[in-house]
Amino acid sequence: MIKPDAMAAGHAKDILARIGKEGFSIAAQKEITIERALAEKFYEEHKGKPFFEGLVAFISSGPVTALILEKDNAVSSWRELIGATNPADAAENTLRKLYAISLDNNAVHGSDAADTAQREIALIFPELV
Ligand code: RTP
Ligand code: MG
Repeated sequence: MIKPDAMAAGHAKDILARIGKEGFSIAAQKEITIERALAEKFYEEHKGKPFFEGLVAFISSGPVTALILEKDNAVSSWRELIGATNPADAAENTLRKLYAISLDNNAVHGSDAADTAQREIALIFPELV
């Protein structure tokens, strides 16, 4: 997912170009604004943590580009491409190093495992499952 900060900053086109260059296929793509209730479900694993409210407010603050990406080892390959959660720790040339503003506004989301990806796809692309 391309998060609201990167969308607002106009980075979506460059991020999509990089996705293609890195060998991912885009199986589905849409621009949506995530409602608060859906954002709470999406980030359910973080419920109760101090940053949860801010995270939900941020992810529902404006349009995102939601993507279903395919590649061998797509989850780990994408996590490698996006870089560390905090852009201050992200490796050179990763999407977060290039485009993230801060830990909270970190440009892109990635599922952390195949089963999480299935769960997130069902939430964001219910019309496809
Ligand atoms: P994401 O789910 O958004 O792809 O990010 P991630 O897996 O790299 O990191 P995760 O642990 O799932 O955290 C989700 C988002 O919450 C914010 N965060 N803030 N203040 C904090 O300690 C803290 N920890 C995480 C980040 O914006 C992170 O992307
Ligand atoms: Mg996560």
